[in-house]
Amino acid sequence: APDIPVASVQAHLSEFQRIANANGGNRAHGRPGFRASLDYVKSKLDAAGFTTRIHQFTASGAVGYNLIADWPHGDANNVIMAGGHLDSVSRGPGINDNGSGSAGLLETALTVSRQNLRPAKQLRFGWWGAEELGLLGSTAYVNSLTAAQRAVIKAYVNFDMTGSPNPAYFVYSASGQPTGSKAIEDLLEAGFASRSVPTELTSVGGRSDHAAFARAGIPVGGTFSGAEVRKTAAQAQKWGGQANVAFDRCYHQACDTTSNINATSLDRHSDVIAYALWSLSGA
Ligand code: PHE
Ligand code: CA
Ligand code: ZN
Ligand code: ZN
Ligand code: ZN
Repeated sequence: APDIPVASVQAHLSEFQRIANANGGNRAHGRPGFRASLDYVKSKLDAAGFTTRIHQFTASGAVGYNLIADWPHGDANNVIMAGGHLDSVSRGPGINDNGSGSAGLLETALTVSRQNLRPAKQLRFGWWGAEELGLLGSTAYVNSLTAAQRAVIKAYVNFDMTGSPNPAYFVYSASGQPTGSKAIEDLLEAGFASRSVPTELTSVGGRSDHAAFARAGIPVGGTFSGAEVRKTAAQAQKWGGQANVAFDRCYHQACDTTSNINATSLDRHSDVIAYALWSLSGA
């Protein structure tokens, strides 16, 4: 699998920050900063040869949007999906939550195009709206699929918060999900291990968009660099950073800006996105 250049991921984060600054300081559902973020991601993918589609839904009295991007190669009856939410809370620009996962996914997709990848299975990416209001976009997407369309999705991997300033290297525990996949869990662990990064399993429950896919019976997994919980002394020993300090002190705050990103974490988690997708798709 390729090494995703962290500078390119950071450039996408700078664009999300610029968009928030120009739109009242956030990229939240129903606000212009969300739609501008979606248009930015879509234009990059369209130029790279993806088949993109905006999936519209209504939530909390506002129109919401998901962006779905297919790499139009490989077996359409075996689809591997990766995604993350593109909306922020209204209090801030949401650069770690979840500009980070969104940017890593975007740069991974652009790398698929640059390499002119011809995977055995079809790759599909999703950027979700209205996660912060209760997984509304991803749920609307899953509900919009027929049983046959759901059945071809063989895996969904989720990336929500990957650049936390006091980072963790968490892999979603398969046992914490209705359809948690041990194979995906082990693959994500192997991705970090290939870069000599120790990991821990974490029970994220229903706290992000993978839960919508799990409820539909699709095998799921994901990675996470931590939010409001404080890093333990043992975790600081293992990963560096500060013990007894939150993984992300700016979680859901106005200070979740480009200054709220640990570049090493962003780099490693982004590389693991690529590692997982190359492997799952048979690239
Ligand atoms: N989904 C949470 C949010 O956006 C963050 C989170 C991600 C929590 C993954 C746990 C696991 O606020
Ligand atoms: Ca990298
Ligand atoms: Zn959030
Ligand atoms: Zn989030
Ligand atoms: Zn495992």
